[in-house]
Amino acid sequence: MQQEIDGLRADCLSKLEAATTTRDVEDVKVRFLGRKGPVQDLMKRLRDLDSDARRAAGKDINTLKQELETSCDARYEALHSKEQASRLEAERLDVTLPGRRGYPGRKHLVSATLDEILDAFVEMGFSIQTGPDVETDYYNFEALNFAPDHPARDMQDTFYITDDVLLRTHTSNTQVRVMESSRPPIRVVAPGRCYRNETITARSHVFFTQVEGFYIDRDVSFADLMGTIDEFLKRIFGRDVVIRCRNSYFPFVEPGMEVDIRCSLCQGKGCNMCKKSGWVEVLGSGMIHPEVLKNGGIDPEEFSGFAWGMGVERIVNIKHRVHDIRLLSENDMRFHEQFHAV
Ligand code: PHE
Repeated sequence: MQQEIDGLRADCLSKLEAATTTRDVEDVKVRFLGRKGPVQDLMKRLRDLDSDARRAAGKDINTLKQELETSCDARYEALHSKEQASRLEAERLDVTLPGRRGYPGRKHLVSATLDEILDAFVEMGFSIQTGPDVETDYYNFEALNFAPDHPARDMQDTFYITDDVLLRTHTSNTQVRVMESSRPPIRVVAPGRCYRNETITARSHVFFTQVEGFYIDRDVSFADLMGTIDEFLKRIFGRDVVIRCRNSYFPFVEPGMEVDIRCSLCQGKGCNMCKKSGWVEVLGSGMIHPEVLKNGGIDPEEFSGFAWGMGVERIVNIKHRVHDIRLLSENDMRFHEQFHAV
């Protein structure tokens, strides 16, 4: 038996010597010291020896077992740290390399201005709702009191999809939709894109952004309209903004009013932005026509309201002195990068 013990020891140690990976070491360990391995085998054979021989041999086998375990573990440790060192070497990171430059996105000037406008109205007690860009003739025109032969319905102004379906020409399409689904008091602003079949120039485009707003309750007056618009324009353009109101006509309001602000570029002296007039139009508004309230299921005897619609690009033009509306939809980064701080 002693011979066998020495043989096993030599065999195991030489196999360990030959191991090149921690896996090899694990294999050697299982093969020699495992339940079905030769050391266990020797243990089983102790039964056949008489008690003195058994005691001596048992001691030797235990020593062998401990020796082999220690050798396996030592070899494992050595190889393990070597493997780890080479893995770390392979995965080495050069932390001194300059990082890749990020290009964080930011809001488009129109979106940023739209947010500012909506924030102002939300602070003033309005809530935000939206209507569809693809709309029926009914909500865009008919419910808003447009006569069947009204020129705005003409193919030259409106993009029709079918005889009855079109791209909304203004956000006023939200008025009757919201009235149908709510009861006064209604205080809503409705932002969105609008589409008109116009020649693309510095001042007009086939798509643009509007913010519609309306307030319907008992005893809403023209003074409330003036006060709301005045407060809003002061919040957006500063307290010293100069405002001019003109009477105007829209089929869905009576009376109607257009609001201009004094051109900030020339301080009213007259320049290209204001077409030499000294004033820039920012919104259309008026008291909601009784027929429109009726179409929305609201009794005009009991309730009254005002509405307005403003062009967001127009407000961008004035606030940021952008002379050409086309710059806003052509993605020239040299233009957009000028507005980092916005
Ligand atoms: N919808 C009108 C336009 O696009 C603006 C408007 C809205 C006027 C609400 C009056 C009331 O020009």
